[in-house]
Amino acid sequence: MRTALIAGNWKMHLTEKQAVTLTRKLLWVQNQMPVRGVEVLLCPPFTALSQLHKLLVGSTIKLGAQNMSAEVEGAFTGEISPLMLAEFCSYVIVGHSERRAIFGETDALINRKVKNAITHSLIPILCVGETLAEKESGKAHQVVYAQMIEGLKEVPIFSANQLVVAYEPVWAIGTGWTATPQESNALIAATIRPALVRLFGEQVANGVSVLYGGSVKPDNARGFFQQPEIDGALVGGASLDADSFRGIIEAARNCS
Ligand code: 13P
Repeated sequence: MRTALIAGNWKMHLTEKQAVTLTRKLLWVQNQMPVRGVEVLLCPPFTALSQLHKLLVGSTIKLGAQNMSAEVEGAFTGEISPLMLAEFCSYVIVGHSERRAIFGETDALINRKVKNAITHSLIPILCVGETLAEKESGKAHQVVYAQMIEGLKEVPIFSANQLVVAYEPVWAIGTGWTATPQESNALIAATIRPALVRLFGEQVANGVSVLYGGSVKPDNARGFFQQPEIDGALVGGASLDADSFRGIIEAARNCS
């Protein structure tokens, strides 16, 4: 059984103060009406990690970062190392499509980041997904399979809970369009899961959680969570509002 994971990627939104306010609201509801069997993760900007870490002590809500350096330490101005993140975070998002498209991150760089995260006991959430042009030219499977194989090449994991994969079709991010739950489930079953089997063997592969990301909202979330290959969501816009994010967490109840 894979645990359901609902992760909020706040992207470049919220000051530290705003992040604290939103987290307090989420904590309050979670404490009043805990949703059991669903892991909740917040990935705020780096500047809010320290404060949120203090706020979340003793709670079941986990913290993650949105990006990380492929290096460990040294003269890398502006970079954040896994050693720094490990003080606050249990997860780190790696290879988000915005990092690939806007900041030119390649599969080779993403692979180094994934390895660096695992070496420092952070769980990477590897993001993969095709663009609209790739989808329309019938290349979605090929593109996602290559991102999996290259991004996870020689990654030393021996247990399924050391890794999470997020399938985020690029054309569904922030657009209000979603892939259908069935379409996403089929792609994961035909592409992501077989890549995991090739890399890590059947037993580990079957235990790795795979999330869907791209315009997930409280009213469409359940359809995704009912799919056998979808173990949760990586949520952008809707994670910035306590009621919406909570609605998505509740939709995951009993679906794991
Ligand atoms: P939206 O939920 O805003 O479409 O963003 C998805 C995403 O990119 C999460 O990483």
